[in-house]
Amino acid sequence: MNRAISGIQPSGKLHIGNYFGMMKPAIEMQKEHETFLFIADYHALTSVNDPNILKNLIRDAVLDFLACGINPENVCLYKQSDVPQVHELSWFLSILAPMGLLERCHSYKDKIAKGLDSTHGLFSYPILMAADILSIEASIVPVGKDQKQHVEVTRDLAAKFNNIFGEVFRLPNPLINDRVSSIPGIDGQKMSKSYNNVIGIFESDEILDKKVKKIITDSKNIEDKKDPDSCNIFSLYKLFSNADEQRELANNYYAGGMGYGYAKDILLKKINQYFEPIREKRLELESDYDYVEDILKDGAQKASLIASDVLKNVKAAVGL
Ligand code: TRP
Repeated sequence: MNRAISGIQPSGKLHIGNYFGMMKPAIEMQKEHETFLFIADYHALTSVNDPNILKNLIRDAVLDFLACGINPENVCLYKQSDVPQVHELSWFLSILAPMGLLERCHSYKDKIAKGLDSTHGLFSYPILMAADILSIEASIVPVGKDQKQHVEVTRDLAAKFNNIFGEVFRLPNPLINDRVSSIPGIDGQKMSKSYNNVIGIFESDEILDKKVKKIITDSKNIEDKKDPDSCNIFSLYKLFSNADEQRELANNYYAGGMGYGYAKDILLKKINQYFEPIREKRLELESDYDYVEDILKDGAQKASLIASDVLKNVKAAVGL
């Protein structure tokens, strides 16, 4: 079995875009690979400066993972900050990382353009990410397109180290998931917290109902024939339905006589049906956070053991 790793920066309430873009692939990954998942809390510090907010974000992310179906028997789930070897390892990558390589990273440039302060932490973000990946010797890194470059940086740094000091690191491969960019928010742009267009999966019925009603459509009348393929409601419906159900709804679009209100109603029903068990599970976990903390402790222990070995080899290779 290959080893795969994925990290998420805890960033707030889980929404349909990150559920299907990141969470679901991560959950499916546990069936095929030896899976390591962690909460990138050190990375989160590049944009969160409030301890209470950070604590809650971390807690939410852990609960979301477990509620959505991460099985701690199969997956090593941990917090990045509980595995300090990662940080120590990052220095050995730092000393080799060309400034130009980091300066070319889109994610850094994008974040500055969005108004984040240009700090050294933000600049060296890809090095810490490389250390995450290399510290547990992962060979697969499932990421969205925006993070592909960071996996390439990881490969570059690992290869450079191996070249100079001998074969210590295993080179990872990115596994690109391009689903994220195709999930529309209520305004039709990519669903993203920064566009303020998300549909959260743990929202109250009332808010969920309001948001689904707000999904933007064209202005065709009920009797008009409609095009499912250019419709935001239909794009979302596809995430929750099987081929027969999709065909049935598409036929209603083609035939005319169906208003968008009807499509929104059945979408809302589907969303609720789909997330019902996940919501229940989350409530259950919330009331037993000790259990959740035990899972994190076990995860940190397992990841630390692997990372310690890697670090030992790295130190020996450089002459420490
Ligand atoms: N940079 C990733 C993101 O913003 C999160 C992350 C940190 C990560 N370290 C990682 C992802 C290691 C995969 C592997 O989404």
